[in-house]
Amino acid sequence: MADLTPLLAFRWSPRAFDPAATLTADEAASLLEAARWAPSAGNGQPWRFALGHRDDETWKRILVNLPSDDQPWARHAAALLLGAHLTAADEAVTGAREAVTGTAYDLGQAVAHLTVQATALGLYVRQLAGFDRAGLAADLDLPAGVRPLVVVAVGRLGDPSSLPAALREQETGLRRRRPVADLLLR
Ligand SMILES: Cc1cc2nc3c(=O)[nH]c(=O)nc-3n(C[C@H](O)[C@H](O)[C@H](O)COP(=O)(O)O)c2cc1C
Repeated sequence: MADLTPLLAFRWSPRAFDPAATLTADEAASLLEAARWAPSAGNGQPWRFALGHRDDETWKRILVNLPSDDQPWARHAAALLLGAHLTAADEAVTGAREAVTGTAYDLGQAVAHLTVQATALGLYVRQLAGFDRAGLAADLDLPAGVRPLVVVAVGRLGDPSSLPAALREQETGLRRRRPVADLLLR
């Protein structure tokens, strides 16, 4: 395997989070700062976030909109962060342009930056796209033109034996990727 910076080599997406760990204010600020400095089309910065710390009101509203299978592990994350992006409908208000690539692309870059920063802080992240977007938009009272896309569970690594058997197997199994040769079109 070619060399990879340790920040990328050590990143992976656990489900076993430490239920006692919290996200400090400095850590939260550092994660959001990483997202803030991501590149975006026309520097539109069309990402928006809602950050819930375990047991606070925002956290509860995010958690309840996750699939019931995911709630048992996600509730152990120190924080649940909703990643949302502005839609073209919001352009007049925000000045952000829905570029050719789409604002979801820019949000993805911001979350990728946040994930690398999390690794630098010894934190772990698992993203979830399978949640009730309409339910969460309503529960968080999001303005029209702000579209929820991904929930980011952030925390410290927990004990895999706390997971149900099937998830434990995934948690400790080999991670796989396609070879680079498969990615190259020519
Ligand atoms: C946009 C996005 C959506 C995802 N949605 C889910 C999800 O709904 N549920 C889940 O358990 N994991 C989800 N994941 C985590 C992926 O399954 C995981 O990143 C992938 O299997 C690769 O594993 P790794 O991150 O450990 O390398 C998502 C990841 C991304 C980037």
